Amino acid sequence: MKKSVFERLLSLETPVYYYDMDLFRKTVDLLAETATAHGVKVHYAVKSNNEERIMRYIASKGLGADCVSGNEIAWAVRCGFPPESIVYAGVGKTDKELTSAILAGIGAFNCESLEELRILDDLAGRCGRKARVCLRINPDIDAHTHQYITTGLEENKFGISEYAFEDAVRIVKSSPNLIFTGLHFHIGSQITSVREIFAVEVAKAEKIVDWFESQGLRVDHIDLGGGLGIDYDDPDGDPIPDFKGWIETVATFRHRPDQVLHIEPGRSVAAQCGSLLSRVVYVKEGRTKDIVILDAGMNNLIRPALYGAYHKVDNLSAGFLRETGPEREYDVAGPVCESADVFGTKRLLPETFRGDLLAIRSAGAYGAVMSSHYNMRGDAPAVFSDEL
Ligand SMILES: Cc1ncc(COP(=O)(O)O)c(C=O)c1O
Repeated sequence: MKKSVFERLLSLETPVYYYDMDLFRKTVDLLAETATAHGVKVHYAVKSNNEERIMRYIASKGLGADCVSGNEIAWAVRCGFPPESIVYAGVGKTDKELTSAILAGIGAFNCESLEELRILDDLAGRCGRKARVCLRINPDIDAHTHQYITTGLEENKFGISEYAFEDAVRIVKSSPNLIFTGLHFHIGSQITSVREIFAVEVAKAEKIVDWFESQGLRVDHIDLGGGLGIDYDDPDGDPIPDFKGWIETVATFRHRPDQVLHIEPGRSVAAQCGSLLSRVVYVKEGRTKDIVILDAGMNNLIRPALYGAYHKVDNLSAGFLRETGPEREYDVAGPVCESADVFGTKRLLPETFRGDLLAIRSAGAYGAVMSSHYNMRGDAPAVFSDEL
């Protein structure tokens, strides 16, 4: 970050989410170019960040949206995503949500259970419409990531498992209001062994696609989901995720010219451009350790409390306002009345004082979208580098 940017940030009330829009645009442009070069279609996972500016830029690049609720679909359409570019996943789509999505004419329902297929057929019939469906497959693959963000194991609640495939084929074939379109997979999030793990997904998905085609269904749409990881340890060294490694691996999928490969990135699109900025309210000196207490809390960024997730913490004031002396070890905590409200333990920071401005890095995805009002605390608003 340049000193001039820091000086403008100093005048802001905290906590606040700061988005570096140059980095964001560079990231999206590279994603779009790489995907186009390999003939892969992208649907941005809206759940990861739904800021209007972020959404509108992604839509302007011709990418589609991956939504998981009726509200996300309505918002994506308002932000410029054509309904036919929207895919819709989620294990608990309600009748009301399904009906609105049918009427909106979305691109595909990624159906997660046999019951959902039956209900969707019924509701589409009542609307006098046909619904395009993909079956979300649970491929039973271990993505070797955090237990709360692995989604492709049979024990997870997501998708249709192999034991139900024959029933799924039977239901799809006998449902007059469903147009079978393809298969959908998503094995988990924050996957860092990119070429290895996604190659396992490709190999498994190829077999499953072959099996469904052997049953007389044409699989035109093959969606391999999201999951590309980012470098939380070194956001400056490695700000743009490995789109090349991911998309090249996805593109190895053996497919005919009439079959289109799709992906659904979320975290990799906006995580690195966002930081949660916060001021130090107190430095609490303890007998065994010192604790830096911030004005941002787990209600603004819950990932550390929920998953034990690591976010780098930088003391911007120490870097820009004074000579930084030797580093000291601190725990960095929020003000919420929960012991879990800690952003990091044993963090080495320059000596830190009340009033310092800190940046909790890599917070652009699954940050603001997961905030709550716990303790009646407010939201951290968004500011964008090009509007400062
Ligand atoms: C179905 C589906 N697609 C895409 C994503 C986006 O994943 P990521 O943010 O890891 O790219 C998720 C995340 O949970 C998901 O559940």
